[in-house]
Amino acid sequence: MTTPAKYLFKPPPQFSKRARISSFAEYQRLYEESIRKPSQFWAREAGELLWEKRWKKVLDWKPPFAQWFIGGKINVAENCLDRHLNGPRKNKAAILWEGEPGEKRTLTYQQLHRQVCLFSNVLKRNGVKKGHRVLIYMPLIPEAVIAMLACARIGAVHSVIFGGFSAASIQERLADSKAKIIVTADGGYRRGQIIPLKRNVDHALQGSHSVRRVIVFRRNYADIPIHEGRDVWWHREMEAVQAECPAEPLDSEHPLFILYTSGSTGKPKGILHTTGGYLTGVYSTTKYIFDLREEDVYWCTADVGWIAGHSYVVYGPLSNGATCLMYEGAPNWPEPDRFWKMIAEYGVTILYTAPTAIRSFIKWGDHWPARHDLSSLRLLGTVGEPINPEAWRWYHHHIGGDRCPIMDTWWQTETGAILISPLPGATPLKPGTATFPFFGIDAAIVDDEGREVLDGTEGKLVLRQPWPSMLRTIYEDKKRYKKQYWSEVKGCYFTGDGAHRDPEGYFWISGRIDDVLNVAGHRLGSAEVESALIAHPSVAEAAVVGRPDELKGQGIVAFVTVRTGIPTTPALRKELREYVAQQIGSIAKPDEVRFTEALPKTRSGKIMRRLLKEIATSGQVTGDITTLEDFNVLTQLIPEE
Ligand code: WTA
Repeated sequence: MTTPAKYLFKPPPQFSKRARISSFAEYQRLYEESIRKPSQFWAREAGELLWEKRWKKVLDWKPPFAQWFIGGKINVAENCLDRHLNGPRKNKAAILWEGEPGEKRTLTYQQLHRQVCLFSNVLKRNGVKKGHRVLIYMPLIPEAVIAMLACARIGAVHSVIFGGFSAASIQERLADSKAKIIVTADGGYRRGQIIPLKRNVDHALQGSHSVRRVIVFRRNYADIPIHEGRDVWWHREMEAVQAECPAEPLDSEHPLFILYTSGSTGKPKGILHTTGGYLTGVYSTTKYIFDLREEDVYWCTADVGWIAGHSYVVYGPLSNGATCLMYEGAPNWPEPDRFWKMIAEYGVTILYTAPTAIRSFIKWGDHWPARHDLSSLRLLGTVGEPINPEAWRWYHHHIGGDRCPIMDTWWQTETGAILISPLPGATPLKPGTATFPFFGIDAAIVDDEGREVLDGTEGKLVLRQPWPSMLRTIYEDKKRYKKQYWSEVKGCYFTGDGAHRDPEGYFWISGRIDDVLNVAGHRLGSAEVESALIAHPSVAEAAVVGRPDELKGQGIVAFVTVRTGIPTTPALRKELREYVAQQIGSIAKPDEVRFTEALPKTRSGKIMRRLLKEIATSGQVTGDITTLEDFNVLTQLIPEE
């Protein structure tokens, strides 16, 4: 069975004519070639970058540990900046920035380069050496990018923490990374409020820690305490250094960054990415999937605290010499048309955002985008979760004016770069599917025994071959890396996602099949929220599950048993929700807290989250409950009609 032509969105002929890959047949031919000889494909892509020393061998694969471009020396910051200074890009805008209150800044490649060199020297002056970890906890301002690139320039390893995370989350990441330096700001803006970043850092640094220096950027002149001897001001430090700082030639496998993300167990995992392979992956995918042109104004709305911000706000577009728009604040501040206003004003040509944002736009009403001229847009993208076909169609019509192809891009913090996505001039689109694997990506859908399933059957999404931008390990925890990703399906990387392929080979990704939640496109482990709840003195036990949510994709429901004698009041319910927000950040705040006398467990003591999920979603249980220890528990959990 094939899809009737009316359901397919073919690439507009005008678009295909100019595109790098201009027909589906060309994609197929190149894809097959890239799967037969992946090293050849990736070497060609890597060859477009600037190497201080060329690699000797493309891949060394000792499963599950990969090394790419062995023997090569390269610097990521040099590829994102210096490389563009010898030609017309020198005075091209690298960053167009707007703060939430409305300030505007433009940094050309030359200016960004200078700032990065200065800040590299600030880091050195404050004792940072190659291999040291630097935590970056900043609002979405150019200085966040400057700090990241400065680390890359001198071979320090950055670990960016999303500004919405709490002091406790900073503490946890500090304990794992043992960073000696934190770069932060007095505050940032979100929906008109000041986010007290520096205060959160101060809270995180109560008690013992590894930090010697906190570098503070002055963003909103918030009144903050300064700890003499530990805290220094960004602007003062910048005045004390020279602007010359040669880029350090780094081994291709030198660590570039650690980014913490949620897994199915309690503690967030430090995903480690390295230099040459990561850059090759993000450079190549940005080039082909967004089909970047010199004159594009490219806007990825992600925060640098997430992987999308690393790969497609900073490293992918800058290594391609693109002009990137960055906006600090909320999409509905001061009104729900902030994005559309900015698109019209800056002439944005490529917009890359999240399905959860699109669903909010739908809710706020069609009249908001209709007020603005969005005709500069030529390409749209989404990432973070499956996009429901209704949201896809709305995005296509109301934002893309029925003319812009939509790139539904599937990938993960661990994959570093986009792995499954259409190509804009080549792939006929169907709303709701990320379509086909990128060049060199051997994606498959398998059953529990690791056998490929038939088209139309749901299975586990796996990757059968290594790729350059893959994570190398979990920071300082090879055992967990092996177990987490390489033990579920023999010889394959297991993504944690479920998927099926339709008769035409399109990949439909349904979302996580492990205990990871995806709330508004942000990953959270159920175990992580559970441990936050259990830390509260009134709580004896907790189990956390997701339930479908129209806006956020998934909402969080927490089942809680309290300690004996504690009254289960509405006030406690409220307190527990707030408590989780304090422990992790407000994205983790449960939508609902349900008190229960016990939790359903298997005879071996495992919480049966599947049952709880059903109860949270439909209020009923239909599945197999033969392993349940105590049936009474279930009747207590199901609310009376
Ligand atoms: C989900 C975000 C369906 C998926 C870059 C994955 C998606 C998780 C898509 C990774 C998509 C991301 N279609 N699902 N286009 N993109 N996901 O690490 O469940 O924050 O495993 O990386 O998001 O989330 P992460």
